[in-house]
Formats: sequence, C-alpha cells, structure tokens
Amino acid sequence: MSISFHENSKEFHLYNDEISYIIKILRNGQPGHVYYGRRLHDREDFGYLVEYARRDMAPYPYEGESKFTLEHLRQEYPTYGSGDTRYPAFELERADGSRVADFKYKSHNIFKGKKTLEGLPATYVETDDEADTLELVLEDEILQTQIILSYTIYEELPVLTKNVRFVCENTEGVTLLNCMSGCLDLPDRNYEMTELAGSWIRERHVHTRKLNYGIQSVYSMRGCSSHQFNPFIMLRRENTDEFSGEALGFSLVYSGDFLAQVEVDTYDVTRVVLGIHPNEFRWELKDGESFQTPEMVMVYSDKGSNGMSQVFHKLYRTRLARGKWRDKERPVLINNWEATYFDFDEEKILNIAGRAKELGIELFVLDDGWFGKRNTDNCSLGDWYPNLEKLPGGIKGLAQKIENMGMKFGLWFEPEMTNKDSDLFRAHPDWLLADIRRNYCHSRNQYVLDFSKQEVVDYIYAQMRKILKEAPVSYIKWDMNRAFSEVFSNGNDKVYQGKVRHKYILGVYSLYERLIQEFPDILFESCASGGARFDPGMLYYAPQAWTSDNTDAVDRIKIQYGTSFAYPLSSMGSHVSASPNHQARRSTSLDMRANVAYFGTFGYELDITKLPEEELKVMKRQIEFMKKHRALIQKGTFYRLQSPFESNSSAWMVVSEDGVEALMAYFRITQPANGKFERIYLKGLEPSAEYHVCEQFGAEMDYGDFCGDELMYAGVSVSDSSAGLAGVAWNQQGDNFSRLFYINKN
Ligand code: GLA
Repeated sequence: MSISFHENSKEFHLYNDEISYIIKILRNGQPGHVYYGRRLHDREDFGYLVEYARRDMAPYPYEGESKFTLEHLRQEYPTYGSGDTRYPAFELERADGSRVADFKYKSHNIFKGKKTLEGLPATYVETDDEADTLELVLEDEILQTQIILSYTIYEELPVLTKNVRFVCENTEGVTLLNCMSGCLDLPDRNYEMTELAGSWIRERHVHTRKLNYGIQSVYSMRGCSSHQFNPFIMLRRENTDEFSGEALGFSLVYSGDFLAQVEVDTYDVTRVVLGIHPNEFRWELKDGESFQTPEMVMVYSDKGSNGMSQVFHKLYRTRLARGKWRDKERPVLINNWEATYFDFDEEKILNIAGRAKELGIELFVLDDGWFGKRNTDNCSLGDWYPNLEKLPGGIKGLAQKIENMGMKFGLWFEPEMTNKDSDLFRAHPDWLLADIRRNYCHSRNQYVLDFSKQEVVDYIYAQMRKILKEAPVSYIKWDMNRAFSEVFSNGNDKVYQGKVRHKYILGVYSLYERLIQEFPDILFESCASGGARFDPGMLYYAPQAWTSDNTDAVDRIKIQYGTSFAYPLSSMGSHVSASPNHQARRSTSLDMRANVAYFGTFGYELDITKLPEEELKVMKRQIEFMKKHRALIQKGTFYRLQSPFESNSSAWMVVSEDGVEALMAYFRITQPANGKFERIYLKGLEPSAEYHVCEQFGAEMDYGDFCGDELMYAGVSVSDSSAGLAGVAWNQQGDNFSRLFYINKN
C-alpha cells in the first residue's frame, strides 16, 4: 500500500494490492479525478486520462481558450463558481451573499495511519501500518477559507474513506450551505444503482434501477437515517452478479439526515456524492472555526456485490465497531417486549427470567414500561426512574435478582424522547425540538427532545448514569421511536437553527461516548422503531442494532438479506418470537424462526412461561446450538446464495474465519405442487478438502462426506418430495419451510 506524489504531473496515486485511486491537480489548481478501480501500476503521469474538448455553451475560465472547462472535467470536490454547472459537492456563502468559490491546491500531507474525527464516528486503524492517509489542503484566498480533503486507503482491504474539513480564516465569517463528505466522478454511466428501501417493519429491501440522465438519489430528512432509505448505495455493472463483476459500494458513517445522490450528465459522466442532507443545514463559521463532515466509505469489488458486502462486513465489524464487545460472542438474550408489552410486574418478569435461565439464556432484557408511570405509550419518557409499583425493588432490586439467578440484566431506554405527561416536560416544555408557539406533531404520543442543547443531554445523562451506577446493568437497548417533523430549537437564534439537525446528532453521539467511556462493559444495542437507525454511525457506539420490529421469520429473510449488503451478521439483532407472529400474523415453525434468527445476534422475544414442554425442549437445543456456533456466525464470512427478492426460495451461508466449518440455511416460502428439483451451490469452501454435511434439527440427517468442489459446483440438493406426488415423506413441509446444514471439514 502506498500513496505516491508525482511532482511533475502533480498526481497523487493511492493504491494497495487491489485498488488504485488517482487525483491530479488541474491547471486551475483544483483537484481533478483521474481514476478509481482495480489496481494500476504506478506511473509518473496519468494525464492522458483527463480529456478536454470544446463544447459550445460550456463556461471556460481562461480567456481565448476553449478546451479547459470544469463543466466537462471530472473532479474531486466540485464547486459552484468555476464553470461546473452540475450539482456541486459543497456550497459556501460569503458575508456579502456571494456563493462563488474557487479553491486551489495549496499543500498536501501524506502520513501513515488515520486520524479520528472529533465528535463523529469513523472507521479507524489499530496500528499505523494498516492504512495511509492523504490530506489535500485547498484554499480560496478571497474567501479566506481552507478545505482539507482527507483520503485514507486501507492496506488489506479495497477500501477508501473520505472526509472534508472546512477552516474559516475570514474575519467576516463564511456560511456552509452544503458540504458533502465526498464525491466521485465516474467516466461512464453503465451502472445499476442498488438502494435499501422500505418502511417500518419492511426495512432495507433491495431495489435496483439502471442509471439514467439526471438525478437519482436516496435520502433522509427525518432526523435519523430512517426506515425508508439507508445511507448506502451500490453501483454495479449490468453483468455483475453476487460473485463476479464490478460493484462499488458507498456508505456514510452518519446517523442523521443524509443524501446519497447520483447525477448522470448528458455526456454520461456519473457523479456520486454522499453527505449530510443540505435541507435546513446552514452552518455559520466564524474566523478560526472549522467544520468537520462525517466520513464516507467507498468499497471497490471486482468480485460482485457479495464481494463488496464481505469487505463492508470486515471493515465495519473490526474497524468501526469498538470496545469490549466488538470481538466477543454476543449473549443469547430474552426480551420481554413481545411477551408482556407494558403489562408486567416483578413477579412476571422473574418467572420469565427463571424459565429463561433453565433454557440456557444468558441475558434478560427489560424493555419499555419500567419507568415513571408508564403503562401505555402516552407518558413518562424522560422520567428515567423505576416504577416502584411494578418493580418494588427498583431496577437495582430486579437486576440483582436476575444476576443472582446467574443471568445478566439489560435495560431499555429511549433517551431522546419525552411525553407531555412527564415530569421532564412539565419542568422543561422548551426542551422540545419543535416550535412550541404553534401546533406540532406527535408520533406515538411522543416528542423529540432538543439534543442540540448541552443541558438536555446532561440531564438525560445524569438520569441514566444514576441507574447504571446503582444497578448491575450489562446491556442497554437505546431506542428512538419517531422522526423529526418541525425542527426548531427554542430560545436560540436564527444562526443556531441552521445547525440544529447536525448538532442533535452530535449530542446523541456525545451521550453515547460518555456512557461508553464510563461503562465500558455494557453492550449497547441501537434501535429506532426497529431498523430506522441501522447505520454505520451507530455501529461505532453500539456494535449491534435491532434490525426490525418485524420478527416474522419470513419477512425477516428479506430484511436481513437486504441489511447484509452493508452490515455484518454480528450487528443484526434477531429474535425468535411467537407464532402466529405479532406483526405479520403468520405462523411458522419454531425451527424456521430460529433458522432465520441464528444469522444475527440471536435471542427470544415471547412469553416462554406459556409454551408447551416440547417447545421448550426444542428451544433448549436451539440455544445450545447457537452457543456452539455463534463464533462461526458472528465472525465468519457471509455469502448470499439465492435472493428472496427473486424467487420463492432463498439461501445464505456463513463460513468460519479458518474455513473449517460452515452453516447454510435454505428457506422456501410457499410449497410448490409437484415442483422442480432444487440445488444450492455453496461458496467459500476448499475445492479439494473433504467436508461432512449434516442437516440440523427437524430432519437431523447425516448426508455423509463430500469434497468442497462437489458442494460448490455440483451443489447440495434441497429437493423434497414436493417434487412429485405430495405425500407423507418427512420433508414434505408445506409453506414457510426451512433447512439448515452444518458443513464441517474432515
Ligand atoms: C420500539 C422498539 C421495540 C420496543 C418498543 C417499546 O418499537 O423497536 O423493540 O422496544 O419500541 O416501546
């Protein structure tokens, strides 16, 4: 890995064994983009890749010269005001209202390692040899402002990260109106764009469209990264599939409003930008102040979209997630939400916990309803002290009893919210993030607290800290259950309002950071009505996230499959819940529910005190199974084998880091009548090694020994007797059928 600077051609070449990224300082001093893709040999001058042409109507900055125009040059950080009339990557306003900018190369700095971003989550290195960084310093002398473009290339992964810092040295100040974290101008538009779109209980479904002229984008203006879109897009060639061809992943390490935009101009140049959504963003910088954008992560894969995902998984699991829990096997938990909702008391909780302990569950999580006088969702958020009617010994007493049973105790909080019926709101009505002089919307009867204000963050911190100090809490589920609707910070001026949305997220990050530093042993799980904040920013603080409020096994296949495009299995909270399922009203077998939930962090969320003895026996075995295999699942290499978005059946597998064992799950939604024979082609095995294949649970079939090449190229037959006369065979399962195979090297 290296970053070379060629003085004569003014080119920077960032490369490792797999990728190259080339920047050239253009004639006008702006950084131009030359190349991003598979590794190229280094050379002194790649200038031939920058093409110039005269095209009428284009603006030319040099008098008497009609070939050099920013309109048709690919750039690193395009600006308004130097001839480019496409969407710029940033906009700055001077005190007199001028938005014209012309930032020119001033200097650069190349160093080993990677800096942290103050107050913001970001990928990191453990030793400086893991990555090299280039900082390009640009300056606009008239604006008296600098832009520092940072690029980090990882040694072992085809990953390049970008971020931007603005430094104002203008006595009159400047105002940032838009500041994307990075831009990539690609030379053609022969790509398909994949995005993860959905809604509550239907998160991160995979959608793909062909790029076309104009703008295509995904975004959030909801204050969180959202159920609707995820801060991730993939561009891939039309012939790219899961395992071959070019796939370019773009991801933003941020949890608030974002924009991921692709603009294709009519000369087929594709411009990708990712960053904070400019909606309501207006950041005034005084002399001496700076602004740091979030980080944008780019992954290049020539091994298909699955190859791209595996790189994201590795990077986000090992160099974004942090702390004690990053590499630890995650505890099998039970959460009381779908078991009791608000209707519980200590006795009921202890009954569930006692039964859970017998089953081998390691962590009991007490969800919503333990604080203030909360028995419905219309009160008490913000009053983080225990309801002693429900829990006479408080959280301390309950947590201690659960610890005494030999289990760990976890607790739900929703720190960023309040209800009108709460002590917090009665004392501080102006702490709402809403224009309280007019009508403002509730959502689930709750209101957003103004986390842009330090005093609000401090108040919530003090309450949470008190509980965590006195009770043995090992896990926190941090929820966030509504979108922003009318953002206004009461008591603050106009300039402040332009900063509120971003400051809010910085407030959330700072509270996380304080708690993590003070309670480093706690495992955090983020949540936002299920998966509305399943983003890389959160993973820096909470190594796992509640993937969706939808716990139905069938729906979860699509949700978890889509989520796997950017996020590792170790980050996906996944539980076995009741059947019929509470969201989808669908009935599925206990095996099927577990076969989906294994591929994540695994737990239960149903009233186990009401289950028949046979089901409890099955659960006990499931828990043993998960404990035995969770290192493989949570740290292994994940392969999407067959998409649930494309057919009635789907499959995925995970291969252990050392390649010794693997698990493959196959799911079929509706039972075909006299259907086809079906095979699943495994991945990631050694062709010449011999493996033992054994079906788990239900069937418990021992299939014998096979070579890796047979399993990968000839495939594993998953046909059952539905291929023929519907009959009495054991594997004639009906709808919502799943199979799980354990593959072990001999
Ligand atoms: C959200 C979460 C759920 C549960 C409830 C409690 O919907 O996603 O898992 O915690 O809140 O109110």
